[in-house]
Amino acid sequence: MQKTLMLITTALVLMAGVLAAQSDADYQGWMKGIAASNGAMGKAIEAKDGTLAAAEAQKLVGFFKQVQAYWQAKGAADAVGFAQKAGAGADAVAKSASAGNFDQAAADAKGIGPNCGGCHMAHRERTDAGFKIK
Ligand code: HEC
Repeated sequence: MQKTLMLITTALVLMAGVLAAQSDADYQGWMKGIAASNGAMGKAIEAKDGTLAAAEAQKLVGFFKQVQAYWQAKGAADAVGFAQKAGAGADAVAKSASAGNFDQAAADAKGIGPNCGGCHMAHRERTDAGFKIK
């Protein structure tokens, strides 16, 4: 009986490890997507391409929704707040860029950055192998 319990416990611990690794890989994918879209969005605003800027901003909104849900599940209220504000900033860019209001879009885009930095300071750890979630 004890042996069975120990086997079950070991199996559960292993499974949890695999699940955590999987979601961390997803997370890294979102961050890579966020960095790419954020850069493309900035360039599109500079080039006054409202359609492209809005499309990239919409991608950011989608990514940040996933990031927000991830931190909600972890119960980290500060990270949820950063993700939510970053998403709201991207949503604002989508609206102003679609309307061809590029000064406003640039101002809205500037508002996103502090949330990237704030969350990274609190929840990103640099290791020899790259970044880690903390
Ligand atoms: C709610 C928290 C949060 C927000 C908001 C956030 N990040 Fe991150 N980011 C993280 C964490 C945690 C990591 C480390 C995890 C990892 O890289 O696997 C990370 C990693 C990254 C990485 C490294 C990815 C890699 O190759 O490992 C980049 C690039 C990045 N973020 C860009 C951004 C940009 C740009 C923004 C804003 C437009 C942003 N992030 C907003 C939490 C956040």
